[in-house]
Amino acid sequence: MKIGAFETDVLMDIAARPPVVFAEGKGSWLIDHRGKHYLDFVQGWAVNCLGHCPPEIVKTIAAQAKRLISPSAAFFNDAAIGLAQRLSRLSGLERVFLASSGAEANEGAIKLARKWGSLHKGGAWQIVTFADAFHGRTLATMSASGKAGWDRLFEPKVPGFPKASLNDVESVQRLIGPETVAIMVEPIQGEAGVVMAEDDFLRELRALCDRHDLLLILDEVQTGVGRTGRMFAAEHAQVRPDIMTLGKGLGGGVPLSALLASERASCFAHGDQGGTYCGNPLMAAVGSAVIDRVSQPQFLDGVRMREEHLVRRLREILTRHGLAGEYGRGLLRAVDLGRPVASQVVDAARDLSPEGLLLNAPRPQLLRLMPALNVDLDAINRMAELLDQALAAVIKS
Ligand SMILES: Cc1ncc(COP(=O)(O)O)c(C=O)c1O
Repeated sequence: MKIGAFETDVLMDIAARPPVVFAEGKGSWLIDHRGKHYLDFVQGWAVNCLGHCPPEIVKTIAAQAKRLISPSAAFFNDAAIGLAQRLSRLSGLERVFLASSGAEANEGAIKLARKWGSLHKGGAWQIVTFADAFHGRTLATMSASGKAGWDRLFEPKVPGFPKASLNDVESVQRLIGPETVAIMVEPIQGEAGVVMAEDDFLRELRALCDRHDLLLILDEVQTGVGRTGRMFAAEHAQVRPDIMTLGKGLGGGVPLSALLASERASCFAHGDQGGTYCGNPLMAAVGSAVIDRVSQPQFLDGVRMREEHLVRRLREILTRHGLAGEYGRGLLRAVDLGRPVASQVVDAARDLSPEGLLLNAPRPQLLRLMPALNVDLDAINRMAELLDQALAAVIKS
């Protein structure tokens, strides 16, 4: 495909991408190759928690790049230790492994649980996961996922991930056997369409793990680092996992993820886990800058205040267009259109002129909104105007 001066065929064709090439970003706005501005309520799939190119990240990258970029994962570096200390202090989990993507952190969590089973649970190795879950795109994390249609891809899958139903504790209980070592769950299934694990359900999973001596693995790649108005989504249910993974917002836009484990669960021996970029100081320094901002109580209060404003504006739109509903936690929200027109709304919103609006459609009838956690109220108001226009165009046609 030719877009302006750009021949895009050189890139592997792995997704249906719209015919725009992004060149710049600032706060809640993205600018394409023609200079058109788009209000971004996708933010790299909940990644740019401080918006595009925020000053603290730009400054941190420049400063760290002058000091040290990559000494090798085989040596300690001060930036990685600094980030690990922050994450450990905030989560109460004593050990941290830094990586680059959510899938890599989850792959590490799966390996850690299997290692723990081999050491402490007679070789137990199976991990109960959930229908519609999303844990990443490596072979093991695809196998752990329950995304519709994935069961037939890249066969044979990695075995050992029986699937229960979210919010159905009996379906979990039925799958627990002598080979079970862990339960792995997202506090909110973001890719499935912002489907919440109820707080009581998470507490029941914690109790099940305690009763059967299993590890509770929380995948907070999408929900962690302030997205739901708390530092970690599991805080809403006051549940402490044995293993937790973070990604996306942790790097504020740079490739950074983390695998956190309690002292009891942390059992890797030398050679079990690693990777060239694990603990890379350029990324770790950014992670610390993000954490220092997001973990401030006023910042998290601000996320909840923005949530209230966004929900208010969305509900006005729901009423005006007779839509089915709106739900979510913090600034991870879904709008149920009640009819399968979400991708038409996404296209219409993007193609509005002079300014477009970027949204995501995880399901045929569902829009997902994941703005920057510091999005300003004017941008929320503008989003509501643009969404209103896009809905009017699609519903009328
Ligand atoms: C809950 C969850 N886990 C894991 C991943 C995979 O993260 P990454 O794409 O960084 O590998 C995602 C990505 O959407 C996610 O939402």
